[in-house]
Order: sequence, then structure tokens, then C-alpha cells
Amino acid sequence: MPLAYLNGTYLDQNKAHLPLMDRGLLFGDSVYEVIPVYHGKPFQASAHFSRLQHSLHAIRITNPLSQPNWQQIITALSADNPVPAQAIYLQITRGAYPERAHQLPAQPQPNVFAFSKTIPANQHIRQHGLHVVTQPDERWQRCDLKTTNLLPNVLALATAREQGADDAIMVRDGIAHEGTSSNLIAILDGTLTTAPDSPQLLPGVTRNLILRLAAQANIPINRHSICADELPQADEIWLTSSTREIAPVTRLNQQPIGSGTPGPVWQQIDALYQVAKTNPDNK
Ligand code: PDD
Repeated sequence: MPLAYLNGTYLDQNKAHLPLMDRGLLFGDSVYEVIPVYHGKPFQASAHFSRLQHSLHAIRITNPLSQPNWQQIITALSADNPVPAQAIYLQITRGAYPERAHQLPAQPQPNVFAFSKTIPANQHIRQHGLHVVTQPDERWQRCDLKTTNLLPNVLALATAREQGADDAIMVRDGIAHEGTSSNLIAILDGTLTTAPDSPQLLPGVTRNLILRLAAQANIPINRHSICADELPQADEIWLTSSTREIAPVTRLNQQPIGSGTPGPVWQQIDALYQVAKTNPDNK
């Protein structure tokens, strides 16, 4: 059984437990971060630590560990799981207290845990793309925070799977915000289009890198919200995340997107992304 980190110790994942009264469980009072590690080397860790700080600050938890401490945990867990690609999950709950009460504890004692999850090879998706459906976005108004309040995401994915799709794009008031665990990028009339940062979506670390790579490659970029109505005419649609990288969407609501195969801009940016993964500057 792989190791987990829990409040200063490493133990078997199936022996690591949180108390029943943990606020993460009772109230979803908790945030997390996901850092990809390729061949033992964390990828874009600084950007993930910044976003973790943003999430913690917004829900009023003081970061319980220093960045070197977090790095040590990532090193230990990734060494325990020596696979080519893995994601390290860092999780912080506000902790457990004797009485179940909504009010914030006077003396917070967060619970901190972390674990590794192997990222499987995604050859089928790279060749054939994802089949996606649109679903209502029923999430709260602070989707820029990486909290564990993921029930609307879980249910949107479940509905998509029932409809024979791989994933869902979440739509609110006619705007397509993001996937259930990924950001949304579309190529509209040759322009790489993605929403500006806002409380409606997570500021994706993968998406930010893609924007930098596209700018370097002189691909035209437009930061504006994507209407769900625009998506069927898109040249290409991608879902991006640290675990999924850049996944081309080849069918939306049972209709092909573009040629129905991963498109040429995806080929170009994905190639640059694969190189960036091996660049030690992207730590
Ligand atoms: N999810 N939007 C949502 C709702 C996400 O959950 C994620 C990532 C992203 C992409 O963010 P990034 O590129 O920084 O990974 C966008 C992770 C992988 C997860 O929850 O497992």
C-alpha cells in the first residue's frame, strides 16, 4: 500500500485516518492542491504553491507548513511511488473539534495530509480525443478557490458518464466556464480563446502555461468568456489540467468538433507542452 503523509508522519494510506469530527468532512471546510511530478521532478510547483496560498488565505487558514516542508513531503511521496507520472495531492482541513459548530474555532489546528496518485498514460485520449456533454454549472460563486466542495463537479461528471460521455463542460447563464476538473480552451476562428480569471473558474496552472506557450508561438489569443452557443462551431476544444495535460475534445453533445479528431493547434501546443515538461526552469 502506498504511503500517505498525515500531520507529520508517513504511514500506509489505508492506515491514515481523520477524526469523525473533522471539519473537512462535516462542512467541506478544506482546500487542496494537485502537483504533477514527472520522473521524480515536480512540475510548476511554485505556481501550485501560490494558488494553495490563495485558497488558504481566502478561507482564513494560515498555511500550516513552509514551502520547504511541503517540498519534502512531495519528495518523500513521489520517491515511494516511482512511476513516470504522478500527482501529489496536498490537503488541508480546518481540523477536528469536540463540538460540531459552524463558527470558526478560536484555536485552529488544521489537519494536513498528502498522497500520491499515479497519472495513467493517456494514449487513447491523445489519439481520439474526449467525448463531452454540456451540463448546468451548479457550483458556488468562488470557483477560483481549490476547495473540496466538489459535489456539483462529481454529479455533473456522473450525468455525463450516464450519457455515454467522458466528461462535462459546465454552463451557467449561457457561458461555458470549465470542465468538471479542468479548464476550457477553444480555438474559435483560428484564435485561442479562454475566459479571463474570475470567481467562476479555477485559475489553472496548466492553462497559464499553455497561454505562455501559445504567445511564444505567435498563436493569436483572446481572453473572453466562451458562450456555450459558440462551442459547436469551434475549430478545436481542449480541456486542460495538471493530471490531464491538454486533452482534445473531439465530440460535444454527440456532434463532432472540427474534423472530429485532435486538431492541428492542439498538435502544435501539445508538442511544446511535452518539451516544457522536461525543462528544469518549469519547477
Ligand atoms: N483539477 N478547473 C477545475 C475545476 C479543476 O479541478 C482543475 C484541476 C482545473 C485545472 O487546474 P490545473 O491546470 O492547475 O491542474 C481547472 C485537479 C487536477 C484535481 O482536482 O484533481
